[in-house]
Amino acid sequence: MRTIAVYPGSFDPPTFGHLDIIDRSSRVFSRVIVSVALNIRKNVMFTPAERVALLGKLTRSYSNVEIDSFRGLLVNYARDKGAHVVVRGLRAISDFEYEFQMAHMNKKLAAEVDTVFMMTGERYSYISSNIVKEIAAFGGKIDDLVPALVRDQVLRKIRKGK
Ligand code: COA
Repeated sequence: MRTIAVYPGSFDPPTFGHLDIIDRSSRVFSRVIVSVALNIRKNVMFTPAERVALLGKLTRSYSNVEIDSFRGLLVNYARDKGAHVVVRGLRAISDFEYEFQMAHMNKKLAAEVDTVFMMTGERYSYISSNIVKEIAAFGGKIDDLVPALVRDQVLRKIRKGK
């Protein structure tokens, strides 16, 4: 059976942790749609178009991964795409409560859509996009946290902001 999965997130910016989940999802599902959420309540560094472009470059080598963006309810988007699975990464216990609430609420809104959790690779379990931006803003090295392409774009944004 061909299973389409949506991997949603803010990806501001994408990190090695996100790429780990994308890589593993691409082996499990026939098609993975990585989708940048547009209506998020976060202060973002990158525009949606910039995040989509970054993700596109970073996932170029995967034939079954595509990049998109969405506005509104995730489950409506998943339905539009014919996806029955939402993929989420779990980094630590602290992610659980939020993810638990979201998965149950999404199930209530659309019973046919299941959330599948992947444990984030151990070495990425402490990464978050905000931490990456904060370390970079204070002059710390982020080479182990994000690909070089993302590092250069983050540093460019920080230089522009000063
Ligand atoms: N490795 C490293 N970091 C990870 C990670 C992984 N595998 N998975 C998540 N993160 C980090 C992200 O970098 C992000 O860090 P930040 O908070 O510092 O930016 C944080 O974990 C969570 O981000 P993300 O996975 O992008 O989720 P989100 O909370 O920003 O987005 C949506 C959640 C977009 C999926 C959710 O809000 C949504 O579905 N919105 C649409 C509206 C809707 O349907 N609402 C009803 C939901 S019930």
